[in-house]
Amino acid sequence: MTTLGALLPAHLGGKLRIGCIGSGRMGGALLSGFAALKLPELSLCAYNRSPEKLEPFKALGVEAMPGVAATAEQADLLLIAVKPYQVAEVLAAARGHIRPGTLVLSIAAGVSLARLAAEVDQGVAVARCMPTTTALVGKGVFAFCFRADAEEWRAPVLALFGQMGVCLELAEGKFTDFSALIGAGPAYVFAMMQGLVQAGITLGFPQDASRRMVGALFAGCAALAEAEAAPLIQLRDDVCSPGGLTIAGVNVLDRAGLSGLIVDAVLAAQKRGREMES
Ligand SMILES: NC(=O)c1ccc[n+]([C@@H]2O[C@H](COP(=O)([O-])OP(=O)(O)OC[C@H]3O[C@@H](n4cnc5c(N)ncnc54)[C@H](OP(=O)(O)O)[C@@H]3O)[C@@H](O)[C@H]2O)c1
Repeated sequence: MTTLGALLPAHLGGKLRIGCIGSGRMGGALLSGFAALKLPELSLCAYNRSPEKLEPFKALGVEAMPGVAATAEQADLLLIAVKPYQVAEVLAAARGHIRPGTLVLSIAAGVSLARLAAEVDQGVAVARCMPTTTALVGKGVFAFCFRADAEEWRAPVLALFGQMGVCLELAEGKFTDFSALIGAGPAYVFAMMQGLVQAGITLGFPQDASRRMVGALFAGCAALAEAEAAPLIQLRDDVCSPGGLTIAGVNVLDRAGLSGLIVDAVLAAQKRGREMES
């Protein structure tokens, strides 16, 4: 198997130092995901505005940095994991400190490659990634878009993130759609899980047992849907015996228009995402 070191741009000499700005929900999930890989060629450093948020990551081998500029100076790959409205401030602080040949990889929703490129120094490559928080457990779904100047970074970045989940490349114009469907996806899935857990409690199962059963149900269904080529609607119908208990429940979901409701939720997220693009 080709190692990450062998895929890296030649000027890095087979070693990669990732500097992460922002260790909140998503930056933290990615730092934990990278650390869990335990790759000898990979080292991690990070800066967060509130330094206490870096504490849990120090134990994972992440070096806590004193500021944006110091992180930018050390990073071969500078990961921007702050809120979209905070990106300009971070890149202004990094300006003049990012070495040529570095990749600035932003996970900020709605911040375009053109905007990123306009805010970094010449010779610095830029790319966008839209991750899911499930990266924390090595089951992320990541969309990438590389600007032409980031070509040498494509293979190593896909190989690195591919060890923490599924990677796909998308045209930048599809990024907001991906964010509405998949980036926001954990919220939809957890909402459905919560409904079932609540139903379990209503039926008299203890909270922890209900949660454990529902978690296993979702994991099992995801594995089955991946293993079976059959349409999802057939997998659903396969568990509905004529005149049985399951079809009685499914009829209620259909009457409420569950599928349509989910489509509407994703379209609402897409609409809001488009409003936030810059
Ligand atoms: N959460 C998701 O599911 C998800 C999914 C896909 C993409 N994203 C993207 O990921 C990015 C981060 O989202 P999040 O949910 O992780 O937000 P978050 O939990 O608020 O994390 C942002 C972190 O950035 C830190 N920060 C803010 N300004 C900073 C600065 N100037 N220098 C250093 N650190 C700074 C904040 O520090 P403080 O503690 O001081 O506030 C905070 O810890 C967003 O752009 C979002 O679009 C998130």
